[in-house]
Amino acid sequence: MTAALPYANGHIHIGHLVEYLQTDIWVRFQKLRGHECRFFCADDTHGTAIMIRAKKENRSEEALITEMKEAHVGDFAGFGIEFDNYGSTNSDENKELCGEIWQSIRDAGLVKEKEIEQLFDPEEGIFLADRFVRGTCPHCQLENQPGDNCDNGHTYTPTELINPVSTVSGATPELRKATHLFIELEQLHEFLNEWTQSGEHLQSEIANYLKGHFLGDELRDWDISRPAPYFGFEIPDAPGNYWYVWFDAPIGYIASTWEWCKKNGQNLDDWWKNPETEIHHFIGKDITYFHTLFWPGMLKTAGYSLPEKIHIHGFLNVDGEKMSKSKGTFIQASTYLNHLDPSFLRYYFASKLGPKVDDIDLNLDDFQQKINSDLVGKVVNIASRCAKFVANQNLSETYPVDDGLFQQGTAAGETIAKFYEDCNYSAAMREIMLLADRANQYIEGKEPWALRKDPERADELRDICTVGINLFRQIIVYLTPVLPELTAKTDALLTEPITSWDDSQTPLTGTPVNKFQHMLQRIDPQKVAAMTDEAQSEQTTEEAVPALDLSQWNDGSKALEAEPLAEECTIDDFVKVDLRIARIVEANHVPDANKLLQLTLSLGGGVTKNVFAGIKKAYEPEALVGKLVVCVANLKPRQMKFGLSEGMVCASGPGGADVFLLSPDDGAVPGQRVH
Ligand code: 2FM
Repeated sequence: MTAALPYANGHIHIGHLVEYLQTDIWVRFQKLRGHECRFFCADDTHGTAIMIRAKKENRSEEALITEMKEAHVGDFAGFGIEFDNYGSTNSDENKELCGEIWQSIRDAGLVKEKEIEQLFDPEEGIFLADRFVRGTCPHCQLENQPGDNCDNGHTYTPTELINPVSTVSGATPELRKATHLFIELEQLHEFLNEWTQSGEHLQSEIANYLKGHFLGDELRDWDISRPAPYFGFEIPDAPGNYWYVWFDAPIGYIASTWEWCKKNGQNLDDWWKNPETEIHHFIGKDITYFHTLFWPGMLKTAGYSLPEKIHIHGFLNVDGEKMSKSKGTFIQASTYLNHLDPSFLRYYFASKLGPKVDDIDLNLDDFQQKINSDLVGKVVNIASRCAKFVANQNLSETYPVDDGLFQQGTAAGETIAKFYEDCNYSAAMREIMLLADRANQYIEGKEPWALRKDPERADELRDICTVGINLFRQIIVYLTPVLPELTAKTDALLTEPITSWDDSQTPLTGTPVNKFQHMLQRIDPQKVAAMTDEAQSEQTTEEAVPALDLSQWNDGSKALEAEPLAEECTIDDFVKVDLRIARIVEANHVPDANKLLQLTLSLGGGVTKNVFAGIKKAYEPEALVGKLVVCVANLKPRQMKFGLSEGMVCASGPGGADVFLLSPDDGAVPGQRVH
């Protein structure tokens, strides 16, 4: 398993943590299920950004990346993220592997040279990547815009900018020619088509995206070299040129594995060239292109195993918006840890993460409410209400009659495991909370606190607590991938450590119970406020969350050819259709329907609509709840076999699994009209 290698030019923030926690939970789940599984990561250390920053800070690149690695390792440990090895792309292992893989790519005849023109900073003596140039948009004359696209959405190359300025030195860049090495990805087109579209390795929306945007056209050559000066590895057979950081970064996955192999007497080929070993990558959607086209192409050419699966997640918003420094929602990992328990974020992200690529939202009110209600009010409450009555005693010697509750929890185990396996953590958390609700109902019905004063009912009290504690422990086994610290506290309470998923299948009997110690405290709202205050006040040199590189998203789709534009309509025709923003508040399968899901849409102000939508093959109902969509709100209701449909949700795509719901940008609210 791997998570994307974080850049060494910035600290870890809660946006990054979505992925590291998602991966850590998956790894812990696999280990708990008894699989031999290893989690490898490393710092991504090369490239112009590091070089420029080191120069600005008047120190060597090596000093900078050493310091950042220490900080990253500390942040990850603070959140309980456990790597089997955490390396660096600036390692001997990585250099050697880059050389070997490069040679295979050369031998396969995939490399060619091309002369390109690029902006050059004459003061710094460096070629400028797009993000280090600003200027006036050549299309709309908007000033002070980045090198690739302007705030009005026009895209261009940095050489087209009017009055370009280097953001490194402030100098006016010059246009200069340089010879670069390119990999001809087109030669791998057939393989990439097959691999990405097999339905086995990528989420369906990603496979469709690749098909629609890249694979329908010739694949562009990949510019793989950068001329000196550049912080990276020099290309052995092209002196004065360095591998572009995106060439050596993913090879860092293998290099980190190799470091671990060396420390543990293992053979690298058993992990990376063995059909019995599955490689799983977890990444964010912004780096899809590199991981789903270049990387499989490199692996295939060099004879390494291809990923079994690339698990891709969306971005994190906070309170419905992009993380913002001015609002105190650009929260660094270390800032969070100064105020709050890491278990809270682990659980909250788990409760939000589904198998799709949708963005997730950390709503700070919902966060507090969910932790207090689910973890403190439901889960820990089970133990705290039972354990004190059997402290320093033993559980009953025979497991008592419990109305079938433990058995129901045992039976839920495989459903929960399947949800984890499918990265559908939100569904797993919901299923686990149902078990907690049942356990609490049992305890409320039995009222152990009412029995404690009656010595004649001591055995009955012990039996009730034996049931409660076993139901609690069963839930804790299921939560172990998410909340390892809570598991450790449970182990301390019951002296019988949880080591495998199977520990959920048999109740403990006769086991000693220690004195109950507080496990989790309710969230103090003042601590959340203190955290956002600290985040707001931080004067950080952190780069903003990088925008997507739009130049990658080559729109080669043939959709217009397949469905030409409809007959012209007037504005009067258009306004007859009342399109509204709506929130999906409920989504359900419809028994016996192959294509339909039942949706309850909220249009705000207490108005709801029942809609049957033909999106079953493309969406899981649980992933839809909470999502904003566009709905045709004045459509004449239609009586269907399954009930009355009172509107439509807007979507694109030909149908089946290729359906894409339209959703508005952040800020839209239910009921707003779409003009
Ligand atoms: O996007 C990023 O933050 C990159 N540093 C991820 C690299 S992942 C892998 F390819 F190394």
